[in-house]
Amino acid sequence: SRDEMEKRVREIKEKLGDQLFIPAHHYQKDEVIQFADAIGDSLQLAQVAAKNKQAKHIVFCGVHFMAETADMLTTDEQIVYLPDMRAGCSMADMANIYQTEEAWEKLTALFGDTIIPLTYVNSTAAIKAFTGRNGGACVTSSNAKKMVEWALTQKERIFFLPDQHLGRNTAYELGIPLEQMAVWNPISGEFKYEGNVQDIKVILWDGYCSVHQGFTVENVQEVRENYPEMTVIVHPECSFEVVQAADLSGSTKYIVETIKNAPAGSSWAIGTEMNLVKRIIAEHPDKHIISLNENMCPCLTMNRIDLPHFLWALEMIENGEQGNVIKVDRETTEEALLSLNRMLQLA
Ligand code: 13P
Ligand code: SF4
Repeated sequence: SRDEMEKRVREIKEKLGDQLFIPAHHYQKDEVIQFADAIGDSLQLAQVAAKNKQAKHIVFCGVHFMAETADMLTTDEQIVYLPDMRAGCSMADMANIYQTEEAWEKLTALFGDTIIPLTYVNSTAAIKAFTGRNGGACVTSSNAKKMVEWALTQKERIFFLPDQHLGRNTAYELGIPLEQMAVWNPISGEFKYEGNVQDIKVILWDGYCSVHQGFTVENVQEVRENYPEMTVIVHPECSFEVVQAADLSGSTKYIVETIKNAPAGSSWAIGTEMNLVKRIIAEHPDKHIISLNENMCPCLTMNRIDLPHFLWALEMIENGEQGNVIKVDRETTEEALLSLNRMLQLA
C-alpha cells in the first residue's frame, strides 16, 4: 500500500542519512516531492548537484538529461540514479548528435566562423559536448537572456537548440526581429529563409516541449473574457504568440517566485506544467489561481517517476545493487562541462 511504501522510503532515508541526496524538479508528483532534499528548476538542481560533495548516492527525481547533468557535475565517487529509465524528455529527443553535427557542418559552410551554438540544458550530454567543443554554452530558461546576450558578444549569430520557442522568445526580447530568425529543420537538413541569408542572426532548431506548446492564444483569450482581472503568466517554452498574448513570461523559478511574492487576493492564470500548477494552487489558498488550460496533461515523462519506482531505486541502493545508474563517459563529460561551466560561471 501507499502507506507502507512511504514508510519504507522514510526508513531507507534515515538509514542512509547524508549518504543519500534526493533532488527533485518542480514538475515531479507530490508523492515524490514530499521526500526531496532539494526542489528546484533545472538550473537550481544543476547547482545543488555541483555543490554536494558528500552524498554517495544521488537519486534524481526528474528526467534523463537532468540526471546526466548531475552525473557530469558531481565527482567520480558519486553515483546518480534515475528511478525510471523511461523518464526522458520529448524535447531533448528532438535533437540527436548526428543531426546536430550535420547542421553545424552546413551552417559553418554558410556562415564561416561567425556562428556560436547555444544549447538549452534540455538536451543530451552528447549535444552539450558538441556545444562545448565548438565554443558555445548551455542555457536554461532562467538565464537564457543573459546567455544569448553573452553569445552575441562572441559571434554575430547564434545556433540555438533544441527549443525553438525559448530561443525565439529570448532573442525577440533582446530586440532581434523575427525576420532575422530562421528555423532549422533537422529532418530535411535545411532552413527556409526569404531574403539574404547573411541577415540571419538566430538559427532555431525545430524542437519544442509538447507540454508547453500545448497552450494556445485561445486559452489566453478565454481567460481574458472570463476573468478580466487575471494576470496571465507563462513559461518561455510556450509559443511566441502565447508569450506575446500573456502578461508575463519566465522560467519555472520565476513563476514560482512571482506567485509567492504576489499580494493576497491577486488572481493568476498559469501556463506551465500541471503538477506544479496544482501545487502552487494548493500552497496559495489566499490567491485565486487557475491553469491557463485546465485540460492540459502533466509532463508524462516527469510523471514516470512515481512512488513505486522511487522506492525501488532506494531499495536497490539499500541492497547494494546497481539499479538505474546514469553514467556519462569521460570524453563526453569533459567537453560537455565546457559548455555547462560557461553557463554556471556567467549565470
Ligand atoms: P526549467 O526548470 O528550467 O524552467 O525548465 C522547464 C522544463 O521544462 C524542464 O524540463
Ligand atoms: Fe521535456 Fe517539456 Fe517534460 Fe520539461 S516539461 S521534461 S521540456 S517534455
